[in-house]
Amino acid sequence: MFDVSKIRNDFPMLRREKELIYLDNSATAFKPQSVIDAEKAYYTDFSANIHRGDYELSYRADQAYDGARKTLADFIHADTDEIIFTSGTTQGLNMAAYGLEKLIGEGDVILSTLAEHASNILPWFRLAERTGARVEFIPLEKDGHLSVENFRRALHERVRIVAVAQVTNVLGHCADIKEITRLAHEKGAVVVVDGAQSVPHKKVDVRDLDCDLLAFSGHKMCGPTGIGVLYGKMEILEKLEPMLLGGGANKRFSSHGDLILSRIPERFEAGTVPIAQAVGLAEAARYLQSLGMDSIEAYERELKQYLSGKLKELDNIEFYNPGSEAAICSFNVKGVFAQDAGTYLSSHNIAVRSGNHCAKMLVEHLGVDATVRASMYFYNTREEADRLVEVLKDCTLEKCIDIFL
Ligand SMILES: Cc1ncc(COP(=O)(O)O)c(C=O)c1O
Repeated sequence: MFDVSKIRNDFPMLRREKELIYLDNSATAFKPQSVIDAEKAYYTDFSANIHRGDYELSYRADQAYDGARKTLADFIHADTDEIIFTSGTTQGLNMAAYGLEKLIGEGDVILSTLAEHASNILPWFRLAERTGARVEFIPLEKDGHLSVENFRRALHERVRIVAVAQVTNVLGHCADIKEITRLAHEKGAVVVVDGAQSVPHKKVDVRDLDCDLLAFSGHKMCGPTGIGVLYGKMEILEKLEPMLLGGGANKRFSSHGDLILSRIPERFEAGTVPIAQAVGLAEAARYLQSLGMDSIEAYERELKQYLSGKLKELDNIEFYNPGSEAAICSFNVKGVFAQDAGTYLSSHNIAVRSGNHCAKMLVEHLGVDATVRASMYFYNTREEADRLVEVLKDCTLEKCIDIFL
């Protein structure tokens, strides 16, 4: 089993902020020293641009960047050329929505859910507006999860694109992407997966899922900010229109405006790429693999059950997702605004996120527009969960007001 106290030692932030209980991991995760060192090594040891220089230093940078692509491919069981480095999930999903324009037309449908993060719905709204297609929403189950049965009912001949999160970021429900993809493919639809909250926490095997595109962010999986991945099945990438054009993405062009694009994946990485971040992200993938993705998932699931059991016992807490898989607990303190509860927790050295968490349509399902979200990662502990519960027990409107006086 997991030795969390040993693991915590790997994280400078956890060593530095001894009193802090960090429960905002769905927003961003702390970095182990090895990731910081890997990123630093690029700047101190082989700082050159890639795929442009005919000198030794540049080859070293090439090797590190190309090697990072291979590491990320292995991490999600893809082919190396199917990995496109992006700035994060948001850019990846925008690239997907932009690039699929030719595959969709007037009257066609993009299927999604009310639980999506802004990054996995706004690009689709824009695509619908540009093409005359429309977005339809698969009804969620009462607890907010996306069932295969509801998906099956919502699917029809006009659906061209399915865009859903594998794990949702407020309620932490996990969708059965494999079955959703199987059904969608029967209708000839393309499946785009928002993997921002799944890839950091569980083994994701894109070949097994058979999804067409999947986006995720480095910073949520112990990697650097400013880097992410858009995975695409080669046959889909061949049809995808690049969102950005520029250096590195073209083989040749002339004053007549003719253009020959680079091979895939470079075609999708115009401009100077985030080299240091890619090197750091590869180290993050190696770090997670050294812990074991299955062990991470099992540990977090147990932590979620532990905290859920305690939160359910609190009379002053409205708890929205006791039954979901991910280590995310979303709740409100009765009679207290979510942000006030967040500030109260902060006054006790507990960092959570309060608000709508960029999933602004979820209010239409949940009936509340703001929640407190405690999101855990593999370095969180039962003791931290206990402390959260202790502090919440005493959280009242009066005590929150006292903080501001
Ligand atoms: C489910 C989900 N999708 C997309 C995003 C956007 O990720 P990023 O801000 O790293 O682009 C997030 C970030 O919180 C998320 O939770």
